[in-house]
Amino acid sequence: MELTSALIGGSYDELNALFTIAFGPHIHNGYWYSREDNSSLEVALQRMNDLIIEKLAAHKDWPVLDVGCGGGELMRQLAARVGCQTVGISNSHVQIDGANEQARTVNIDDLAKFQFADAHSLPFPDAHFQAVVTIESLCHIGDRPRALGEIARVLRPGGRIVVADFSEHAPMSQDAKNLLAENEFDFLQFDEIGKLFGDAGFEVLESVDLSWTTAKSQDAMLESIRLRRAELLAHYSAEFIDAFEANWLNLSDAFEKYLSYSLVVGQKTNREPVGV
Ligand SMILES: C[S@@+](CC[C@H](N)C(=O)[O-])C[C@H]1O[C@@H](n2cnc3c(N)ncnc32)[C@H](O)[C@@H]1O
Repeated sequence: MELTSALIGGSYDELNALFTIAFGPHIHNGYWYSREDNSSLEVALQRMNDLIIEKLAAHKDWPVLDVGCGGGELMRQLAARVGCQTVGISNSHVQIDGANEQARTVNIDDLAKFQFADAHSLPFPDAHFQAVVTIESLCHIGDRPRALGEIARVLRPGGRIVVADFSEHAPMSQDAKNLLAENEFDFLQFDEIGKLFGDAGFEVLESVDLSWTTAKSQDAMLESIRLRRAELLAHYSAEFIDAFEANWLNLSDAFEKYLSYSLVVGQKTNREPVGV
């Protein structure tokens, strides 16, 4: 199955209510300090959000872009804390409408703006942003070299990139490959990000393996889906929710066996990217 932007965006439109009800404003892994850390999903998700904001190390004069912004919470919080101009793009109309509406509600819409766009073709001039972040979006992007090339194009020399995403650390069974493809994922290979960064003209400043601290995410997310079943039934049929839960269980299993989770911080160099 080809991972077109329209396909992925349509799925996020359909699942927006489910993710919002079950996970709140974040659709990414949470961060737990240890196996004994019993923090709620909400707390762990916010902690990951805070870590990403810390790694962005943004200044109020920095325009910042979030590629695959989900509901836009990261950019709203960054704008509110730092006072910088932020833009989030997503290929889901439903997410973008919700993100703009929420920015108006919390009165940050002068600094946090959201627009529908495809990561393969960013609608911004060259060297427009000082920092770009992309959280769990590369795993859906069909042509990652092109998307990274676009990010490099819209970043200023010396600009910062922060990526958090899954990557395959072990050879997958055919069943797992099929399951992930059916779920519209195409995960990075374990060592792929370094090459993608180099080819796009970024140097890696920091790479942190967060597999261990994020490992509780899928179980906590499933628990939250189950706890909020009554609310979900206002938007989805019981059959849909049952099928979603069963699929999530299988996905969790594959994630645990085959995937790592990394946070990578890079900087745009002055070198010409490969292929230019
Ligand atoms: C797992 S969600 C992560 C959302 C957000 N980054 C967060 O951490 O909450 C993946 C996001 O990537 C977006 N996305 C996937 N492929 C995209 C593409 N080609 N262009 C723009 N957005 C894309 C989806 O619409 C969704 O917002």
